[in-house]
Amino acid sequence: MCIKKCHLQVTILCAITLFVVLLSEVYSKPILIRFSHVVGENTPKGKGATMFRELVEQRLAGKVNVEIYPGSQKYTDEQAILGILFGDVELAAPSFPKFRKFSTALQIFDLPFLFENLNHIHRFQQSDVGRQLLAVMEKRGIKGLRYWDNGFRVMSANKPLSKPSDLRGLKFRIEPSYVFQRQYERLGAIATPMPFKHLPDALRGGVVDGYENAWSNILSLKLHLLRPYFTEVGHSYLGYMVVTNHAFWQNLPEDVRSELNVILDEVTQEVNRLAKEKEETDKKTIMAVENVQVLHLSGEEKKAWEDVMIPIWQEFESVIGVEIMKAAINSRNPIE
Ligand code: SIN
Repeated sequence: MCIKKCHLQVTILCAITLFVVLLSEVYSKPILIRFSHVVGENTPKGKGATMFRELVEQRLAGKVNVEIYPGSQKYTDEQAILGILFGDVELAAPSFPKFRKFSTALQIFDLPFLFENLNHIHRFQQSDVGRQLLAVMEKRGIKGLRYWDNGFRVMSANKPLSKPSDLRGLKFRIEPSYVFQRQYERLGAIATPMPFKHLPDALRGGVVDGYENAWSNILSLKLHLLRPYFTEVGHSYLGYMVVTNHAFWQNLPEDVRSELNVILDEVTQEVNRLAKEKEETDKKTIMAVENVQVLHLSGEEKKAWEDVMIPIWQEFESVIGVEIMKAAINSRNPIE
């Protein structure tokens, strides 16, 4: 009887010990943050991802590991958002059009000529409405953490584009945005949505005649060697929302989450500084290449583009939300 009882006690003790050992293994294992993005490492976002990993290595060693998957190695942006929901990726920074299935409000960032410059955008992003937009996908499981800049999109094609009618009949690669679709329809072009990684081949093979993007992305994929004509229309801001899985973020240990927030603040400052710098330097590098032509529009020329594109605001006002539109417009600085 005593032998049986002792045996049972030893078995229970062993089971408890094993459970404690397994539990401590689980809890002492570093948290893995997989960061998927679609651009090169020498872009503001690519450099931001690297800086994020380095700061985590310095300050959260043993607690958090970061793996970066650049250049669509793992996912396109739209897939990355699903990856976040399914727990296969913890961090991504897609451009705003990629969120169209999760939030209609975020289309505010796609509207042509709404934002005059980076200061205007920053004022809006830091306003109450701008901060609320970071949380707009939480009910769907996606948490917005920060806004990151790249720069203004420039248009490029196989011929100079100086006036809206120059786009008539051209096949244009767009990011998957309802706003961009309408914008290029109004310009008479054939809007062709496709992931960023397919753009060089699409240009090489003539699947598309042109595209729009930020200077740093153009340089990183050497797109200026495929289409030498550029126009700075000033119509569209290419920025990102850094996002994570809402539940993942909430369940992080408090000290880890708070350090990650500090790191994200520092990285955001640096990404935005770099975006501004690279918009100038990468453009200069491209302009120095033989045959490249960059058109700068006069005020009058720009007005012709505005006249075609700005009416789109009205079409999207009700889906984006009147209050959000007002807040974006009111973030303009009358002195600028
Ligand atoms: C990016 O900057 O993340 C890519 C934008 C694009 O799809 O053109």
